[in-house]
Amino acid sequence: MQEPGGPMLVEGPVEVVQEDGTIARSDRPVVALCTCRRSLIFPWCDTSHRGRKKKRNAPPTASERRAE
Ligand code: FES
Repeated sequence: MQEPGGPMLVEGPVEVVQEDGTIARSDRPVVALCTCRRSLIFPWCDTSHRGRKKKRNAPPTASERRAE
């Protein structure tokens, strides 16, 4: 199962063999694998695929309102 532009969700536990040969392991029941390669915790998704661009004329988010 994969969210378009987002992570691939797989049932755990999983072992991912990375390009350098190291193995990343997770015992979680569901694991989000990064497919965009922007994650700071690759091969796991850290939601960096969502980006931080704000639409023009969009109302401020709740966290932006709190910061004001
Ligand atoms: S898919 Fe989520 S950070 Fe890459």
